[in-house]
Amino acid sequence: MTGAARGIGAAIAEALHREGAHLALLDRENELCQRRAAELGALPFDVDLADPVATAEVMQRAIDALGGVDVLVNNAGILRMAPLLDITVDDWDATFDVNVRAMLVTTQVAARSMIERGQGGCIVNMASMGGKVGSPNQAHYAASKAAVIGLTRVTAMELGPHGIRANCICPGYVLTEMGADTRTPEMVAAWSSMSPLGRCATPSEVADMAVFLVSDEARYCTGQAMNVSGGMVMH
Ligand SMILES: NC(=O)c1ccc[n+]([C@@H]2O[C@H](COP(=O)([O-])OP(=O)(O)OC[C@H]3O[C@@H](n4cnc5c(N)ncnc54)[C@H](O)[C@@H]3O)[C@@H](O)[C@H]2O)c1
Repeated sequence: MTGAARGIGAAIAEALHREGAHLALLDRENELCQRRAAELGALPFDVDLADPVATAEVMQRAIDALGGVDVLVNNAGILRMAPLLDITVDDWDATFDVNVRAMLVTTQVAARSMIERGQGGCIVNMASMGGKVGSPNQAHYAASKAAVIGLTRVTAMELGPHGIRANCICPGYVLTEMGADTRTPEMVAAWSSMSPLGRCATPSEVADMAVFLVSDEARYCTGQAMNVSGGMVMH
């Protein structure tokens, strides 16, 4: 899985580990990733997912080291806050390189391996509520997450015949390091009031959805964009 060094990804890695998964963790936060891996008996891989050649190579190495792949979780993502009129080409490209293109690359490598083994598999991609409803100062991020939803649907269509399911998760607000530099208590209060449940999500609540999606309980669920937004989004 990608982006497991901290935040939602760390919670997903922990939850999958509890379920008995043997994990390879791909992240650019090498030291943190190594520490997480040691805690979970997982294999750490240092990679910048913005580099598609390195990503493909490391992904294949990770699969070889594990001896195969049943589940791919594409969780890594970045958010650069900027008003629409100030978004630079670099902001746009950096966002799409990590949030979408890396996902295509890891999916291609993992899916080839899954098809070759002939035992099916599961892919979970991290989208966002922003991919459905958008959010000010996040046009590039929202567009990238809408792209994740589209990529997930076509992945489900093309890989379904091989017994491979693909779904994505659309979290609402989760108080991780992502966006922490611009977050204020007033913003958190306003976000909390947007949910009928009156609060933001915890990383483990998103992780629980990932565990469900890769489980046999979700065996007839593919191509979906599952909200974990406390009811902020209902479609
Ligand atoms: N936090 C939220 O409110 C929220 C809401 C909706 C969706 N999401 C999505 O959930 C996912 C995880 O977000 P988070 O809040 O845990 O963020 P985070 O910033 O805490 O963690 C992101 C992880 O991805 C890794 N990563 C980022 N860019 C990378 C790169 N180029 N190469 C390798 N690793 C890279 C980071 O090192 C980190 O471990 C993201 O896809 C994010 O867009 C987050």
